[in-house]
Amino acid sequence: MRIDVLTLFPEMFDGVFSSSILGKARDKGIVSLNTVNFREYSNNKHNTVDDYPYGGGGGMVLKPEPIFAAVEALPKHQEAEEVPTQPRVILMCPQGKPFSQKIAEELSSEEHLVFICGHYEGYDERIRQYLVTDELSIGDYVLTGGELPAMVVIDSVVRLLPGVLGNEMSAVTDSFSTGLLEYPHYTRPAKFREWEVPEMLLSGHHENVKRWRRKESILRTLERRPDLLEGRELTKEEKVWIME
Ligand code: ADE
Repeated sequence: MRIDVLTLFPEMFDGVFSSSILGKARDKGIVSLNTVNFREYSNNKHNTVDDYPYGGGGGMVLKPEPIFAAVEALPKHQEAEEVPTQPRVILMCPQGKPFSQKIAEELSSEEHLVFICGHYEGYDERIRQYLVTDELSIGDYVLTGGELPAMVVIDSVVRLLPGVLGNEMSAVTDSFSTGLLEYPHYTRPAKFREWEVPEMLLSGHHENVKRWRRKESILRTLERRPDLLEGRELTKEEKVWIME
């Protein structure tokens, strides 16, 4: 997969793209992570990328030319012997579709993602209408720019790519991919201060451990995110756990 990020602050991505799991995915050649400072595509001598809004009002608006030019200058991503794919061009903004694990899974099957991160009051509407394929929000709050939201989306997409997570199972069982919150985890020591690990986990009985985990997942979801259980078909056993 190839990911390009258009930003006025490429240095914000340095640590995130080179550390931990993203850094390893990049080193292994699973993903290519690139930043583009779209100020370099400004077509005026002061290198401005924003301007006053037509019709007046406060705040500045990102001009269309540098953003279009930066996207159009990106190399087309091409897997061996395949025709180049059209990238998904994703605009990070509070008005976008709420980001979710489901969208992360969908994006993880793309070959080329382009993120546009703004730092101003708004984007010229023609960017939305004629360049962008998706608008995403990471939550109902307003940040100073789209960089942190883009990092959130990129992190959640890249960890789903085959070969990125050491333990392939962890992406399958983690919260949300099963539609439920994850069950509690424990490691050694079996007793820490006066707090003991649940007996069941020490039993070595795989089937019982699996059942215990499913029950804990259901109960945790019921307590913290009952909305996730709405419309879900529960088994007889799961209904009993909920009634207990
Ligand atoms: N830019 C500013 N706030 C944002 C948010 N909540 N989600 C995505 N992009 C943003």
